[in-house]
Amino acid sequence: MGAFSGRTVLVTGAGSGIGLAIARAFAREGARVLVHDVRDASRLAEELSGVFLQADLADPKEVEALGKEAAAMGVDVLVNNAGFQHIAPVEEFPLEVWQRMLQVMLTAPFQLTQALLPGMKRRGWGRILNIASIHGLVASPFKSAYISAKHGLIGLTKTVALEAGPHGVTVNAIAPAYVRTPLVEGQIQDQAKTLGIPPEEVAEKVFLAQAAIKRLIAPEEVAELALFLASEKASAITGAVFPIDLGWTAR
Ligand SMILES: NC(=O)c1ccc[n+]([C@@H]2O[C@H](COP(=O)([O-])OP(=O)(O)OC[C@H]3O[C@@H](n4cnc5c(N)ncnc54)[C@H](O)[C@@H]3O)[C@@H](O)[C@H]2O)c1
Repeated sequence: MGAFSGRTVLVTGAGSGIGLAIARAFAREGARVLVHDVRDASRLAEELSGVFLQADLADPKEVEALGKEAAAMGVDVLVNNAGFQHIAPVEEFPLEVWQRMLQVMLTAPFQLTQALLPGMKRRGWGRILNIASIHGLVASPFKSAYISAKHGLIGLTKTVALEAGPHGVTVNAIAPAYVRTPLVEGQIQDQAKTLGIPPEEVAEKVFLAQAAIKRLIAPEEVAELALFLASEKASAITGAVFPIDLGWTAR
């Protein structure tokens, strides 16, 4: 028996990084985890005694089908986590990539909220956790689509919190700074090439320049915050954004 026994949790992008740590944490606490990813994560689902659901969130029709399938299983906790980064100056940012990023990181969470909120309301209990970013609160250059999507996701979080509050459903966003995941490892390599400096220096000089605590965050640290926000102890917390950012946004 764990704190989430009897609860069903859908984690999008659960095959890697933060989503993987969140899926593992909920499974450890007894939840049935619906492991979603665009890539095959059936072995992980098996390991967690969960269910693998495959869908490309870049395709609204696939998101709709995912929402229907998950709704039929009765989702109590929705974690909108899947995402990716693309870096380019705004004048050169390809429209197609912009649209894909907004679809995966803003429209898909909206669609899944639409699909799963009615069941949560009916059961009188639910949690929606949106994995935003410090880039949902502040900006950095060359990340226009990502930053627009994450700022939008925080707006969606607040709006749905107001609508869902009377029904026992809380909606919150988590805003991490740099977490050690494949997404960030990729960025470290890219920036090292662009700037012509060793990868260790990128972490220190570029990613941690604004941080009070000079290290990357572990995905498990984000997962612990997600567990808390989904717990009974957090039932008074809604419409809020929680930075987990080593002091990044304090200055
Ligand atoms: N790593 C960080 O430093 C950091 C910081 C702040 C916020 N975030 C956010 O956390 C979330 C997870 O990031 P991560 O670092 O764990 O990345 P990751 O690359 O390790 O994992 C992302 C997962 O999302 C999935 N995904 C990507 N595109 C998809 C699509 N079209 N359809 C379905 N699934 C798709 C990938 O397959 C992958 O499994 C993202 O929303 C990211 O923006 C990450």
